[in-house]
Amino acid sequence: MRCCWKSLQTLESERKFRRVAKNNKYYVEMAQRYLFQNYGGQLPMAVARGKGCYLWDVEGKRYLDWIGGRGTANLGHANPRIVSAIKKQASRLLHVTNDLFIPSQIELAKLLVEKTFADRVFFCNSGAEANETAVKLARKFSKDQGRPERFEVITAKGSFHGRTLAMIAATGQEKVQKGFEPMPSGFRYVPFDDLEATAKAVDEKTCALFVEPIQGEGGVYVPSNGYLKGLRKICDENKILLIFDEVQVGLSRTGELMAHEQEGVTPDIATLAKSLAGGVSIGAVLAREEVAQSMGPGTHGCTFGGNPLATAVGIAAFRRLSSPSFLKRVRTAGEYFQKKLNELKKCHSTITEIRGRGMIWAIDFSRPVRSIVERCLREGLLLNATCEKTLRFLPPLVIEKSQINEGISILNRVLKEEIQ
Ligand SMILES: Cc1ncc(COP(=O)(O)O)c(C=O)c1O
Repeated sequence: MRCCWKSLQTLESERKFRRVAKNNKYYVEMAQRYLFQNYGGQLPMAVARGKGCYLWDVEGKRYLDWIGGRGTANLGHANPRIVSAIKKQASRLLHVTNDLFIPSQIELAKLLVEKTFADRVFFCNSGAEANETAVKLARKFSKDQGRPERFEVITAKGSFHGRTLAMIAATGQEKVQKGFEPMPSGFRYVPFDDLEATAKAVDEKTCALFVEPIQGEGGVYVPSNGYLKGLRKICDENKILLIFDEVQVGLSRTGELMAHEQEGVTPDIATLAKSLAGGVSIGAVLAREEVAQSMGPGTHGCTFGGNPLATAVGIAAFRRLSSPSFLKRVRTAGEYFQKKLNELKKCHSTITEIRGRGMIWAIDFSRPVRSIVERCLREGLLLNATCEKTLRFLPPLVIEKSQINEGISILNRVLKEEIQ
């Protein structure tokens, strides 16, 4: 009976779907009807297509995208290199089991090893999954070293490491954990950028320190110079592992291929995801040889991890993202972005702080920013608020000077109107 009723309902909504104009409002209503309502603060815009730094909605309106897929669109939307790699690989082979050897997976791992501290790579599908693997690896390494009592991982308050159960436990933000308790055990939190507190927190149970080199989702917090080096020292003194979550700030976002390179520090493990395959789902765990050895045969795996499509596209994306000319371009654009944000601050007393590096920036305001985000949307600029009073900017790294000017000028106009 329920089945019949459901198919009648489905038929009726399909008829409606054909009749109704499919505008933004329509998709907002359909999303409210059919999807989990888990994403807070969504903007009322349904995306149809993208090109470079722009997105178009289903009504044909163009927007400058400064959310940048939250860091997945480093190479811009519909990048011709990515499109061509997807087409080429899709016509050959999308997926095979990891019971076989996948040439593009091996090639991408080789590229990552050649360009970073790592000796070996494991592929999965997302940032949370990569982080979860990193924590499993740290625990396993401790056991293999004959120290099974060391299983706890110390993370930072205000961090973000993903949405799986273990990764919300790793994330040092109560709001992410709320309602899902009890949390898996094995994580402790210390203030970010506080070496003294971190050193004090390490005890006989600790197996690793796990931090973002710059906190992204938490509101773009850049630690003091020497913090990453200090973490390395604590790890060396206590013979524990250093893990960097580079999911948001890796892959040239900060003007360095990996954000930790800024301080010339090498971790034992680092995680990547987001734009590694130009927008196709991928995650990667990079590790030093001795540590990677702990994931021996049968210890870990992932059905889709490192599949031919994601890794063939990953090769195209990573070659571009890691090229010295691309990095130089990001640094130059980042300096210009910072200059324009500072000019904006001088004109608006509601801006209290600007933080960031390279092409990841945040502005703190003395007032809530939701209405600024909504007005900017109407004016054709997509922005993301990480907290009630903080705007975060993650534009595609291919952004042009003129597009920085365009976004700043919209923001300036909106801020002026907001005060009136
Ligand atoms: C630093 C960091 N780690 C992990 C994640 C989770 O990545 P994913 O959403 O791909 O699981 C994010 C996502 O924003 C992130 O910024």
